Amino acid sequence: MTAASLSAARILLIIGGGIAAYKSLELIRRLRERGARVRVIMTQAGKHFIAPLSAAALSGQKVYDDLFSLTDEAEMGHIELSREADLLVVAPATADLIARMAQGLAHDLATTALLATDKRTLIAPAMNLRMWLHPATRRNVALLERDDVLFVGPMDGEMACGEFGPGRMAEPLEIVAAIEAALANTTVIPLPGGARAAFSSALAGMHVLVTSGPTHEAIDPVRFLANRSSGRQGHAIAEAAREAGARVTLVAGPVALPDPAGVQTLHVESAREMLTAVENALPADIFIAAAAVADWRAAQPGRNKIKKGGGPPTLKLVENPDILATIAGAARGRPRLVVGFAAETENVLDNARAKLRAKKTDLIVANDVGGESGVFGGRSNLVHLVSADGVDSWPAMDKSEVGRRLIARLAAMLGAGS
Ligand code: C5P
Repeated sequence: MTAASLSAARILLIIGGGIAAYKSLELIRRLRERGARVRVIMTQAGKHFIAPLSAAALSGQKVYDDLFSLTDEAEMGHIELSREADLLVVAPATADLIARMAQGLAHDLATTALLATDKRTLIAPAMNLRMWLHPATRRNVALLERDDVLFVGPMDGEMACGEFGPGRMAEPLEIVAAIEAALANTTVIPLPGGARAAFSSALAGMHVLVTSGPTHEAIDPVRFLANRSSGRQGHAIAEAAREAGARVTLVAGPVALPDPAGVQTLHVESAREMLTAVENALPADIFIAAAAVADWRAAQPGRNKIKKGGGPPTLKLVENPDILATIAGAARGRPRLVVGFAAETENVLDNARAKLRAKKTDLIVANDVGGESGVFGGRSNLVHLVSADGVDSWPAMDKSEVGRRLIARLAAMLGAGS
């Protein structure tokens, strides 16, 4: 789920008529700087809020708005517009546009393109909170969910109308992250209760703290102890928490991954630096220790490079602080939920149960990293969730999907977003 997934993507962006339309211009820029090609359709109402010329200049493409334009049809028919796209994105999606999508109406170019597609559609709703909460909109949203339309937002916040609550369109980078997730997953993500719309605000107002990646423990200025963790799973969890509306702090060891959009990322090297960064980032509602922290470090790292000759040196190791156990066992300020990972090569479930008790965590995500599993550094993961209630084993799936399901599960445990 990096910018690479956007680099060859073709996005058809439909801009509806809402005050949030100005953010769609920024969205076009963010998508194009990641290498995506963006074609824009504007509704008649959309043109009242931003000028088609601005969207054309930023997208570098003609903007389409007329279903019955002979010149447009000669250049690119309306069916072709949605056929050639990898993903359709509606931002802002107004209450009216959502209602028309839900009914399958097709009396203008935007709704015709939305109906003529066999591609996935992601929508970023934006409207007054009473319109969002109105039973008619609730019904329409439920219909679109059933049709596997993806949602990002709306977010809580102050709106142009002066009211506060759900209805504000997701920020451009949040929409970019949702587009990347939609492009990376060919299947629709099943979330508990089928609540994809609720997912985008399930952790609103919460602070989620995540550790990710390996740690490097210096032996001397040029050598270190490390492990094979890529950080993919931890980073995917941080992204999923962000998608669910949380404020997210990610404490990352040395990884070759980009910082996730919209996530405050703190870079550290060693276990002790990671512990300090985590303690400084508290308080948090949820702490997820996905990092593969080195258990030991050199007792006395060489101040200069250790020279060859005189036989191999003896490396004396001392134990590193256990970040997970420290935070889970804190007498004061313990996050409401503490989640650990258990990378095991044998007796996966027994070891996970023992870790759940020993480290006083609420949940252990256990995975078998032995042999040929390819979990370390790979894109997919096979996990068992071990809690006091028992074991829940999930089928193998993409790490980003593990992230989203885990976040949905934690939101359910906190009774949020339901
Ligand atoms: O005991 P073990 O290292 O297998 O436990 C794994 C879990 O503990 C992971 O969640 C990991 O992030 C966390 N851990 C930690 N600090 C350590 C060692 C492990 O936070 N020093």
